[in-house]
Amino acid sequence: MSFAPVTVQLTDGRRCTLRAAAEGDDAGLYALEQAIVDARDGVVKYPDELPPDLAAYAEKRANSGAAFALVAAQDDGELLGEASLVRLPFRMLRHVAVLGMGVHPRAQGRGLGRALLTHLLAWARDHRDPDGGRVLRVELYTRADNHRALALYHALGFRLEGTRRAFVLRDDGALVDDHMMALLFA
Ligand SMILES: CC(C)(COP(=O)(O)OP(=O)(O)OC[C@H]1O[C@@H](n2cnc3c(N)ncnc32)[C@H](O)[C@@H]1OP(=O)(O)O)[C@@H](O)C(=O)NCCC(=O)NCCS
Repeated sequence: MSFAPVTVQLTDGRRCTLRAAAEGDDAGLYALEQAIVDARDGVVKYPDELPPDLAAYAEKRANSGAAFALVAAQDDGELLGEASLVRLPFRMLRHVAVLGMGVHPRAQGRGLGRALLTHLLAWARDHRDPDGGRVLRVELYTRADNHRALALYHALGFRLEGTRRAFVLRDDGALVDDHMMALLFA
């Protein structure tokens, strides 16, 4: 099932088109991820741990196995956000999808994350595989100090399933827990 593009308005008045990610989005997605990682908020990698160039990023993305991937594009084409689901490969686990998402630091806190995730979940919920299979469970991991992400996931129905204690080592030496959350469609 394909995704029909939609236009959404952020709380600051900016408009974005949500559409399925395409092959030509590599450069925009690489720039977006660099901006998010550079901001050092909610992430688990340092800027020097990103793929070193666009070709390496494109190769990694081509092998990511994302089944549903949405981007939020401004009118000038710049990508302000992305959200994607990767389905687990084994037949007994095909109904499980793992969420990853990010919004550009210049657009955070303005409703784009909520819009992206709402549309992504609706797309995945309605999808049927040729053999009738479907996504029934969406799971994610998030740092316990990522309050905005936690608020978003709770608001959209995700529930806490477990905590990986002392999972993230900050560069000031502090250890931070990491939460696993999931949403069931059934
Ligand atoms: C987490 C992230 C995806 C959320 O997207 P966003 O566009 O910034 O979030 P939204 O503006 O849609 O707000 C989402 C919710 O968080 C709430 N919120 C916003 N700022 C908040 C804050 N500082 N603390 C707590 N809650 C906050 C909002 O009220 C909103 O809830 P509501 O829609 O029920 O009112 C985005 O901030 C981001 O990419 N952060 C950096 C990378 C990251 O953390 N990725 C996710 C890793 S799991």
